[in-house]
Amino acid sequence: MRNKKYQFEIEDNNVIRAAIAPMGLDFRPNTRFYMGDYICRIYAIMQYPPTQDYGWVSKINNIAGTIVNFTSTPITETNIVDQLSKIINSARAEAENTRDALQRQRKTKTADDTTLLMARMEENNEKIAKFCCTIMVMGNDEIDFEQKCNRVESIVSGVGCKLRCLSRMQKDAWEHISPSYAPVELICDVGNRPMPVNAFYGGFPFQNSGFNDGVGYYLGVDNDGTPIIFDLWKRDGARTNSNISIIGGSGKGKTTLVKHIIVSELIRGTKVIVIDPETEYKSICDLFKEDGISRWIDACGGKNGMINPLQIRPKPLSDEEEEEAESKGISELALHLKTLEIFFELYLPELTQIQKALLTKALIAMYAKFNITWDTSVKYMKNTDFPIMSDLYNTLVEQRKTADKGVTDDMDKLILLLENITIGADKFLWNGHTTMQSNAQLIVFDTQNMKIMSDAMKSTQYFNLLSWCWQQMSADRNEKVMVVCDEAWLLINPDVPQAMSYLRDTEKRARKYSGALAVATQNVIDFLDPKVKLYAQPVLDLPSTKFIFGCEGDDLKAVSTLYNFTQAQKELVAAGNRAECLMKAGGRSLKLKVQLPEKRLKQLGVVGGN
Ligand SMILES: Nc1ncnc2c1ncn2[C@@H]1O[C@H](COP(=O)(O)OP(=O)(O)OP(=O)(O)O)[C@@H](O)[C@H]1O
Ligand SMILES: [Mg+2]
Repeated sequence: MRNKKYQFEIEDNNVIRAAIAPMGLDFRPNTRFYMGDYICRIYAIMQYPPTQDYGWVSKINNIAGTIVNFTSTPITETNIVDQLSKIINSARAEAENTRDALQRQRKTKTADDTTLLMARMEENNEKIAKFCCTIMVMGNDEIDFEQKCNRVESIVSGVGCKLRCLSRMQKDAWEHISPSYAPVELICDVGNRPMPVNAFYGGFPFQNSGFNDGVGYYLGVDNDGTPIIFDLWKRDGARTNSNISIIGGSGKGKTTLVKHIIVSELIRGTKVIVIDPETEYKSICDLFKEDGISRWIDACGGKNGMINPLQIRPKPLSDEEEEEAESKGISELALHLKTLEIFFELYLPELTQIQKALLTKALIAMYAKFNITWDTSVKYMKNTDFPIMSDLYNTLVEQRKTADKGVTDDMDKLILLLENITIGADKFLWNGHTTMQSNAQLIVFDTQNMKIMSDAMKSTQYFNLLSWCWQQMSADRNEKVMVVCDEAWLLINPDVPQAMSYLRDTEKRARKYSGALAVATQNVIDFLDPKVKLYAQPVLDLPSTKFIFGCEGDDLKAVSTLYNFTQAQKELVAAGNRAECLMKAGGRSLKLKVQLPEKRLKQLGVVGGN
C-alpha cells in the first residue's frame, strides 16, 4: 500500500486460502505428503530388468489410484558407451570389494544387466535413451493408502523393476510429476536409467494404437476409445493376404463381428458367400433382399440350391501341385477326381482301398460317356452337360455285369452304398444338375436343416459348398469375393485331413484371385489334433488378420501357444468379455471393442446387446 495510513498486516486466513486454492499441500513427513483429502507418496523406479516383456508398461500404468509419469532424455551414442562402461566397471569393482553377500549379488546383477544393454545397443544398433519413471500413489485414508502402496510395490516388482520411495524428495517429486512444472533435475538425476527406446514403446501393447488403414470401415474402438478403421483388402509387408480368422468361445461375438464386416463389404461392392450352419446370417440376407442383391439358400436339397458334386470345378492348387500341373499339363478331370476322392471319403468313410479304386474306375468311364476325357476343357460347358449321381450308379451297375470275380463283392457293396445318394434319402442333396445360380451379390447357404443328418453328411455338404465357393472365387481374378466359413470346425475330420487341406489351399490361393476367406470357429483344439494339425493349423494361422475373442481352459492354452501370446494378450483373451477381442493385423496387436451403433446392431439382427 502506498499510503502509509492504510498499511496493515494481513493475518494468515486458512479459510480464504482454502477457498482460493482448495488443494492444501503439506509436505511435512519425509515419505508422504497430503494433497487435499488424499494421502500421497511418490516412488521412482530405480532398476529395470535387462529385457522387458511386450506390454510391461501397461501393467504399471493402469494401477487404480496412481498417477504415473515418464520422462525421457535422449543420449548421444559416444556418451552412453562411456557411461555404460563406467557403470559396469564400478559395479564389478564394488561387487569384488564388498563382503556383504546381498550387496555383491546386487552389484553383479547391475554389471550383468548393463553389459546386456550395451550388447543390444552395439549389436542390434538399438537407440537408447534415459527414462525416469515416477509413480504417485493417492489413498483416501490410511488403510486405503497402505493397500495401494503395497499393490504398487508388488505389481512393479512383478514386472521385474525395483521401486524406491523418494524419501525427503517428495516436494521435488511432486513438482516433477505435476503438469505445471518442468521435469526436476534432482529427480531426473536420481531416477534416470538408460533403456532401449524399443523396450519402452513395446511396453504399451494396446495403447500405441490408432489403427487406421485410411480407407475401409469402422470396426470398433481400441483401448483408448480411438476408432479402428480397417481395410480388408489392404496389403503391406506384413499383411500379405485378405483372409481373416475369428476364434473364441461361444457367444463372445464372433458372428456379430463377421456380420458387420460382411455388411460393410457389401456396401463397398464385394461379393460375399456365406456357409451358415446355424441360421445366423438370415437377418443380413433379409436386409439386402430387395432387387435380388441377396439369396438365401437352404443347402439341404432346396430346389434352387443343388450343387452337383460331379460337375467339374477348378481346385485350389498347392504350390507343388501348380508346378506339377504346369509342367505335366494335369487336366481338369484329373484334378476334379482328387476333389471327388475327398468328397466320397467324407461321405462314405467305410470305403476300402479296393472300393475306392473301383469307384475311380467307374468315374472315369462315366465321364468318358459324357465325352469328358483327360484333354477336355470344361470352361464353356453348361451345368446340364455334366453327369449326375444316377449316371455314376448306372455305370457301376453296368461294370458289375462284366466284373472279375475277385471284385464282385466290393462292387455290390459300392452299388449298395451309392443307392442312398441316387435313389434313397440323400438324392435330394446331390443327385441332380447344378441349379445354384451365382448372380446375387450376397449368397447365404443355410445348412441348419442338416442338424438331423449324420456328421459325415454334414461335413460332405460343407465340403461340396466350399468347392463351389472356390469356383466363384477363382472365376474372375479381379472380382473381390469374400467367402465366410462359420463353424469351420465342422470340416475337421481326422480320417479325412484332405478336407482341411482343401480349405488351407483355398486360403493360400485366395490371395492371387482377389479373394478373402473368413474362417470362424469356437473350437481351437480340434484344429491342433495331431492327425489334422498339418493342414488345420495354417487355416487359423495363415490369415493376415486375426480376431481372438474370449477363450478358456484348453482352448485358451492352445490359442496362446498358436499365436505366441504375451502375458498381457493372454490376460485379455482370458478375461473373455463379450464383444471384445485381441486383433492381430500383420505385425500389430491391439484390443478391439466391437462397439457398434444401435442401428447397425439392429440391422445385423443382434438382440440383447451388452
Ligand atoms: N458387438 C456387440 N455388441 C453388442 N452385443 C453383442 C456384440 N457381439 C455380440 N453381442 C451379443 O452376444 C450375443 C452372441 O454373439 P454372437 O452370436 O456374435 O457370438 P458367437 O461368438 O458367434 O457365438 P457362437 O460361437 O455360439 O456362434 C449376440 O446375440 C448379442 O446379444
Ligand atoms: Mg456364431
